Amino acid sequence: MRKALVAGNWKMNGSLEANRALLSALMEAIPGHDAVDVAVCPPALYLPSVIAQLQDHAIEVGGQDCSDEKSGAFTGEIAADMLREIGCRYAIVGHSERRAREQEDSLWVARKFVAAQAAGLVPILCVGELLEDREAGRTESVVAEQLDAVLDLAGVEALSSGVVAYEPVWAIGTGLTASPEQAAEVHAFIRNRVAARSTSVAASLRILYGGSVKADNAAGLFALPDIDGGLIGGASLDADAFTAIVNAAVGVQSQESA
Ligand code: 13P
Repeated sequence: MRKALVAGNWKMNGSLEANRALLSALMEAIPGHDAVDVAVCPPALYLPSVIAQLQDHAIEVGGQDCSDEKSGAFTGEIAADMLREIGCRYAIVGHSERRAREQEDSLWVARKFVAAQAAGLVPILCVGELLEDREAGRTESVVAEQLDAVLDLAGVEALSSGVVAYEPVWAIGTGLTASPEQAAEVHAFIRNRVAARSTSVAASLRILYGGSVKADNAAGLFALPDIDGGLIGGASLDADAFTAIVNAAVGVQSQESA
């Protein structure tokens, strides 16, 4: 059975004080789980303080992005080695907000995936279509292009220690969630596409869903066969909501293992 992962992407939110309060609530409410990995991804500037506060706690930490370059004259960039050195376990790459705002294309994202992995991080590769893509029937071709860029550059085996997050762009921060059928369809598509290159990698690959996951829809999504947890935006800033989402994942995992 795949171990679920619930990761909070704080995006550009928080402050030293707000982070401290949020983390102390989470540390109390979320014990270490055998069934579910939990992570938070704060803005890079807060990583050291978040990592320090979470020391000795099972909640792990990730960056929201990393450079595709190892080091050098890249003003403003953060290298994967730096994230690893200060204690990150994960790095999100290819979030749609960066694909849109920073014009990160799929090859660039694939290079970030490779850089993260080379540094010993677990990359969380975000893929997902725009509303106009879905309406034009292009969901699968868009997701395939984003996924194939990584498969082609890194090789399918690289995904055995990576994570994919399907985040339909139209569901991010909008309150619109993909219906269970829509999510299940794309998750199965992703797993099948990986399976075409390696069935064993596909079988062990964790595929998260992201896009307006809330306390009241998490259990329904996580119960779907190809969904192995979630990448949570807005609701990860609220201790009660994030805890409820983690608990939903724990509940689904324990039902599946019963
Ligand atoms: P929301 O949960 O706020 O829709 O954000 C999802 C997301 O983009 C996580 O990376």
